Amino acid sequence: MSEPRLKIALTKGRVETQVLPLLEQAGVDCSLVRHKQRRLIFDSTTQPYEFILAKGPDVTTFLERGAADIGIVGSDILVEHQSTQYELLDLGVGQCQFVLASTAAFDPQAPQRKIIGTKYPLITKRYFDRLGQDVEIIKIEGSVELAPLTGLADAIVDITETGTTIRENHLQIYDYLQPVSTRLVVNRLALKQHQTAIFSLVDQLAAVVNANAEKEVSQL
Ligand code: PRP
Repeated sequence: MSEPRLKIALTKGRVETQVLPLLEQAGVDCSLVRHKQRRLIFDSTTQPYEFILAKGPDVTTFLERGAADIGIVGSDILVEHQSTQYELLDLGVGQCQFVLASTAAFDPQAPQRKIIGTKYPLITKRYFDRLGQDVEIIKIEGSVELAPLTGLADAIVDITETGTTIRENHLQIYDYLQPVSTRLVVNRLALKQHQTAIFSLVDQLAAVVNANAEKEVSQL
């Protein structure tokens, strides 16, 4: 019997850039993805994998609906979209932080009801609920840092990786909410149907992630 073709939904952009080397170290042929141009779906010519390139929130939708077997996506998106699929591996890349940020004029203790801009309304609501604060949340699709700069919002809840966007836009961090990293998630049914193939890929990737982490520690 031929091996099943596993459908892997990979988040386009930063996640893709950081995860392709890991997949390659694990022996997965990613040459077609590397030379993708504007294509969005690729069969591996040498292995039983199909890659789907999608935006993070859509990766969770592909997984939930069974249109992908494996998803590679940030934990920020998994939490925000309340993913119910199996998270099997922290890939150790895409490490960032959720922060509350704004201009220097922002006063987090001010008694007025705050307006918060974010791509993550659920995470933002949970954070302010924990603080016992009722805030107005404005959903923004990108370049969230614009919100406090333009007066659209008093502050933002967003992820920061290098801190460059915050710095270059003269914002400052007022609080750290939770860490984020890239995860490998599996559709529940796919795990039942393709257990051997999925665990074999996960084991290979886990070995790469551990080896990279050990290398980092030894270079400290
Ligand atoms: C994310 C995030 C910040 C930026 C932070 O946006 O929303 O804007 O990265 O990264 P840094 O700390 O390394 O500067 P993304 O690049 O995904 O684009 P977007 O703003 O269009 O959503």
